Amino acid sequence: MKKNPEQVKVLLSRDFPEIASTLLNNAGFIIESWDQERPMTPTELAEKAKDTNALLCGGTDTIDASLLKQCTQLEIISQFAVGYDNINILEASGLGIPVCNTPNAMSDATADIAFGLMITASRKMFYMHKMIAKGEWTYFRPKGFLGIELKKKTLGVFGMGRIGTEMAKRCKGAYDMNIIYHNRKSNPQAEQLLGAKHVSFDELLTQSDVISIHSVLSEETKGIFNRSAFKKMKSSSIFINTSRGGLHNEEDLIEALQNKTIWGAGLDVTNPEPMRKDSPLLDMENVSILPHIGSATIEARTEMARLAAQNIIGYYRNGVLMNNVNPEFVKYLN
Ligand code: 8YV
Repeated sequence: MKKNPEQVKVLLSRDFPEIASTLLNNAGFIIESWDQERPMTPTELAEKAKDTNALLCGGTDTIDASLLKQCTQLEIISQFAVGYDNINILEASGLGIPVCNTPNAMSDATADIAFGLMITASRKMFYMHKMIAKGEWTYFRPKGFLGIELKKKTLGVFGMGRIGTEMAKRCKGAYDMNIIYHNRKSNPQAEQLLGAKHVSFDELLTQSDVISIHSVLSEETKGIFNRSAFKKMKSSSIFINTSRGGLHNEEDLIEALQNKTIWGAGLDVTNPEPMRKDSPLLDMENVSILPHIGSATIEARTEMARLAAQNIIGYYRNGVLMNNVNPEFVKYLN
């Protein structure tokens, strides 16, 4: 949609890295930015978004059917994230609103977190840190605090896309791990680059020493890592989730760890978020938890902000949709 930027009102739902507002400002758009420390309430968001043409939002903003229906002037949604499960895509497409995201920007940063969680869980590092802080570093125990090694073990990637491939590269390079993966479609590049093998979901569960999730959250994947999945995993295995907490059932995960059905876990995403401070997961020896910081590097967040702004600028300046996630909408346009 080509349009003079001076007629376009852009709402930035958060205090995003400056490059986003700088680029939009320089291109001549009218900007409104939410700069308070706390997030907008859904009512505040609806109030501000209803006369907005372009919305630059984040993964924790709920863009549901009721909000979209109120935004009668909305022409594009640019999401500051790769995941977009917070947006009702069907509704947006039905209303003729394209949705764009920021792929690639955080692949390295998120894979680093998955890799770090795997190592810290395998050696109980977060728990050891807490133990010292509580004054419990007492004497040497030859059989105490033993972790497990990762060399030549099998990594099972659930969702071999960009981030999954980066995680697999790290595991291959550092530990010569054998790589298997489960996707709807096979990934020939990963197979060629890493010798990765495409397997069924059951094979992934039964053969992996470490399972790392890098898949979108959808109706199909919601809660897929549940009691029955954990039961099929090796009792020596580690479960890593840096994607979305909704992919695992947290009660079932707690039970699997308590019953030693699996050995350990590393989570950057939890269900719900933020995690309750009394979650039993926080007291477990073989568990590492982080507060959804996969993309939290200066490099990744700057690139995400740049892409999110460019998605809007390109649409109005050249009529070109970049990083569009609802191509059915594009078909509808044609
Ligand atoms: C965001 C993310 O920090 O890109 C994603 O999908 O999960 C993260 O980069 C999160 O969505 C908040 O916007």
